[in-house]
Amino acid sequence: MSRRSDSETSAPAIPAAMQAVQIDRFGPSDVLQKVELPVPRPGPRHVLVSVHAASINPRDWMIRAGTYIFKAMLPKLPVVLGSDLAGTVVAVGSAVKRFQVGDRVFAMVPSSDGLGAYAEFAAVRESAVAHLPDDLDFEQAAGMPLAGLTALQALRDEGRLQPGQSVVVVGAVGGVGHFGVQIARAMGAERIVGVCSGANHALALELGCHEVVDYKKQSYTKTVRDIDLVFDAIGRGSLARNRSVLRPRGTYVTTIPSPSAAWASLRTRLWPLGRRSRMVLVRSNHRDLDQLAQWAEAGKLRTVVDRSEPLDRVKILHDHSRSFRTRGKNIIAVR
Ligand SMILES: NC(=O)c1ccc[n+]([C@@H]2O[C@H](COP(=O)([O-])OP(=O)(O)OC[C@H]3O[C@@H](n4cnc5c(N)ncnc54)[C@H](OP(=O)(O)O)[C@@H]3O)[C@@H](O)[C@H]2O)c1
Repeated sequence: MSRRSDSETSAPAIPAAMQAVQIDRFGPSDVLQKVELPVPRPGPRHVLVSVHAASINPRDWMIRAGTYIFKAMLPKLPVVLGSDLAGTVVAVGSAVKRFQVGDRVFAMVPSSDGLGAYAEFAAVRESAVAHLPDDLDFEQAAGMPLAGLTALQALRDEGRLQPGQSVVVVGAVGGVGHFGVQIARAMGAERIVGVCSGANHALALELGCHEVVDYKKQSYTKTVRDIDLVFDAIGRGSLARNRSVLRPRGTYVTTIPSPSAAWASLRTRLWPLGRRSRMVLVRSNHRDLDQLAQWAEAGKLRTVVDRSEPLDRVKILHDHSRSFRTRGKNIIAVR
């Protein structure tokens, strides 16, 4: 952040202070505190967003608990958590080219920018922000960034999904998985097998799965065959466990970075003739957000909202997310 410059364009009514949810130590959800803070000042390449809605990702409660594995990339305490937001631009830095005051936007705030989505205002670098289509509401949009980008980058970049192919999505109704199912459909997959508990089968089919397997009754690895891509949104599997499921040149993609997943990825890059193992690490990218927005506009992508609560009830959303039973996304209705 930097001081507001003379050349910066700003809306007239930006208050000096805002409500935000911050942690000043790691711990259980009680460490989430609603506080009053100064409204951030956007640097020359940042936009200041009046946040209407934000969303929760499992990484938020991992950061809060002090268990997030990429700790070194995080801002120092105290920190306002949250990477996903949607709202209206109220000020732009002097070097910002793509946005003006009044634009409706959504963004995945990179952790290197200090997070900060659980707040009434957030300063976000221009390259992490995308325009919202008129008919996409703020709660829908706030659910999409981190989970939607993860699913897109996993299927397209790591899985190299092609039209006509077959996909298994493990965790088909969770935050990442429910976007994975819809994006696989949008990319032209012809067979999508969703893996989730029986209570979520109807939702998985509604999202676009052709078949559903209840992991509590049987393992899909025993029954499903001839798959081009296994997208393990839950990340508890491995290439070894999915060998029988995959075609000879098929790919297993996990969301969980671990030494064994990194080794499997390296090994199958060095020996590229058989089945491949890959790991997705989500990157904030406005062009990919544009792609999500286009699919949403075309009716191909929506956020399933599990719970929506105001800023002073973020603790409830963290506890629900921590249960690992979320269907779609948990949303913070900031305004
Ligand atoms: N690498 C990255 O860049 C990246 C990015 C985003 C997320 N992640 C990680 O990916 C994981 C998923 O994130 P998320 O946002 O999708 O989490 P989430 O929304 O909290 O996932 C909840 C879902 O998991 C399902 N689930 C739980 N156990 C399952 C099992 N054994 N088999 C199949 N489904 C199961 C639940 O469905 P049922 O109730 O039907 O069991 C529920 O719908 C998290 O660990 C997160 O940290 C990594």
